[in-house]
Amino acid sequence: MTILEKDDIQGLLIRGHGNLSSASYLLYTFTDPAKAKFFLQEIIPKVTTASEKPEEQALQIALTYEGLAFLKLPPPLLSSFCREFKEGMSEIQRQFILGDTGENAPQNWTWGEKNIHLMLMVFGKDLEKLESTLSQIKILTASFQVELLHTLPTGMLHAQKEHFGFRDDISRPIIRELLKEVPGDTAGTFPAGEFIMGYKNLYDEYAPSPTVPDVLDKEGKLPYHPDDATLKDLGKNGTYLVFRQMEQKVHAFWQYMRAQSSDKASAIALASKMVGRWPDGSPLTLCPNQPDPNLSEANDFGFWNEDKAGLKCPIGSHIRRTNPRDHLVTENTQKDSTEMAAKHRMIRKGRPYGPPVTPELKPEEMLDSMEDDRERGLHFICMVTDIRRQFEFVQNNWVNFHKFGGLENDADPIIGNHYQDESRKTNEFSIPKYPVRRKLNNLPNFTIIKGGAYFFFPGIRALQYMANYD
Ligand code: HEM
Repeated sequence: MTILEKDDIQGLLIRGHGNLSSASYLLYTFTDPAKAKFFLQEIIPKVTTASEKPEEQALQIALTYEGLAFLKLPPPLLSSFCREFKEGMSEIQRQFILGDTGENAPQNWTWGEKNIHLMLMVFGKDLEKLESTLSQIKILTASFQVELLHTLPTGMLHAQKEHFGFRDDISRPIIRELLKEVPGDTAGTFPAGEFIMGYKNLYDEYAPSPTVPDVLDKEGKLPYHPDDATLKDLGKNGTYLVFRQMEQKVHAFWQYMRAQSSDKASAIALASKMVGRWPDGSPLTLCPNQPDPNLSEANDFGFWNEDKAGLKCPIGSHIRRTNPRDHLVTENTQKDSTEMAAKHRMIRKGRPYGPPVTPELKPEEMLDSMEDDRERGLHFICMVTDIRRQFEFVQNNWVNFHKFGGLENDADPIIGNHYQDESRKTNEFSIPKYPVRRKLNNLPNFTIIKGGAYFFFPGIRALQYMANYD
């Protein structure tokens, strides 16, 4: 059985640092390639690896393509990265694929790849610990003229909820190589190569990975590429990190539900139809009529046998679009659907930002809350070895496709870009119901993209190689 090189993998890839409740993401620009490399040399020993279980603080590091190019790394290395990463999230092709148009267009963002070279992700067990780590980092960055462009603070919310008031972070792909014993039925578990470069993926191939001709690794810092003895594997133990700052219009969300409903209970039921789970996390497929606290972390269910028509959990709901499990209307069989859906999974690591509308995020209370002018949302983060096949595919073919699953004018009700123009309408939400389905119109955007970028989240040896290359 393959063993993961945990000493070389950054910790966030295999754990969420959930015990470190305070965190901040810092976006920087380098000002001088040589100084930037010295800075990296200093910071690498402080980076948290997957073999550690940090109790006080953790530090992770990620670089954009612009950042790597600024370090003047060799051209064959730079060109070996995938196209999506090289172009960046805000490039016109990517913008089209991601559906970032209208108010979500990159020209309206607060930040994008431009000038952003580096992200430091700093975690602390409390605010005090976070602040003290941040001040040490400040001294280090100042001495190498690494300039801070944006600080993105995060804060965990009550009971692992996101800002609309729903329990988040329930459905997570399990990496097979991390299990002590691999189950006989491997459904629901994934080979490491789906999420970590240098290992085999679901196609039984090594995940696509950036490489360096072996002659350019004079000190022998990097491992050989398993498929090509002339190349060194720069990607080994790294991955791509997708970052999207998504503002959540919480007041508009609950006001919309209220306007469509006769009472609070039906407003909450409607919002749950959009998510596919009740606010406590219990899945509609297993308990369609009311939440069941015993099922709040339930994730062992499918749609093919239980709910083909979407009468319990609408076909267009957020969880059904982002992971259709065993029921994809484009596939002929339950097995084909399961296999197809598995090829588009991602490891999510996002954290909320901004103040909650009410402390406990109870929908009954949020329905009565007054609008304020504070910004709140989700720093959505996911990790994938193939940006196109995993993150972009889900965003393009499932989240934003208005004809997903036989629907007509719907995008994901929670995170989709809702609009109507000459060619397309995406602002409806259909709820299958017998004998007549319910159709909602004029959904506003409940989330707005405020920034985002594609990062490389390297292994430790790759970081050392890049910091020492001259
Ligand atoms: C503000 C933005 C977002 C909110 C409020 C949100 C909320 C949620 C909630 C409440 C769940 C159910 C809990 C769970 O199953 O873990 C969920 C699941 C999920 N979300 Fe999101 N989400 C957001 C953005 C995104 C984005 C941008 C993507 C990817 C394109 C995404 C992909 C997923 C996936 C893959 C699942 C798990 C589905 C499953 O396996 O059943 N989410 N989200």
